[in-house]
Amino acid sequence: MKVVALDAAGVEQHLGALAQLLLDAHASGMALGLAPALSRAGAEAAWLETASRLEPGERVQLASLDGDDLVGAVHLARSTAANGRHRGEIQRLVVRAGRRGKGAGRLLMDAAVEHARSLGLSLLWLSTHAETDADRIYGQLGWTRSGVIPDYALLPSGDLAANAFYYLKLTSID
Ligand SMILES: CC(C)(COP(=O)(O)OP(=O)(O)OC[C@H]1O[C@@H](n2cnc3c(N)ncnc32)[C@H](O)[C@@H]1OP(=O)(O)O)[C@@H](O)C(=O)NCCC(=O)NCCS
Repeated sequence: MKVVALDAAGVEQHLGALAQLLLDAHASGMALGLAPALSRAGAEAAWLETASRLEPGERVQLASLDGDDLVGAVHLARSTAANGRHRGEIQRLVVRAGRRGKGAGRLLMDAAVEHARSLGLSLLWLSTHAETDADRIYGQLGWTRSGVIPDYALLPSGDLAANAFYYLKLTSID
């Protein structure tokens, strides 16, 4: 398995598999920033919107490939705030439902952190629905849970849920 950066053409090439990732995530109760109910057309539109905003050093789309098979993805977005250019947000981490629990998520997160380091970023943050598997996985990956905001986002079920916020400082490698 390898992790590659997709440009807009790469996103379009893998559009079906990328859309399936989002549908799998919604089926698992994880919204990944998208409102319910998510259709395949809605998932494809979300990726095309992402593709249109890709820009090296600012918004980077990583994907894990097993041969030609796209099995997971993660997005890195550098802050546009003038006083936050050292900071990036990890978004839309997702692995195909049938491929989870075998290291693909760790591989993607390691690649995203490495890419962030290569851009000179010194702080990463992310949020995820609280009390989910993802909420437990980030701690396992070395991230610090800084707190929870109630009623933060809609779940695929349509219910509002709390999100947990995490950060990872990149300044020291130890
Ligand atoms: C979250 C997700 C991307 C993780 O991908 P994955 O391929 O299953 O993760 P991995 O197999 O690489 O596991 C990563 C680490 O978390 C650990 N882990 C897995 N499930 C866990 C759980 N429920 N509790 C605690 N740790 C867990 C693994 O043991 C592994 O740690 P290790 O490398 O030290 O053994 C995947 O489950 C997914 O796509 N879920 C649906 C979408 C989602 O929730 N995305 C996150 C949105 S913020």
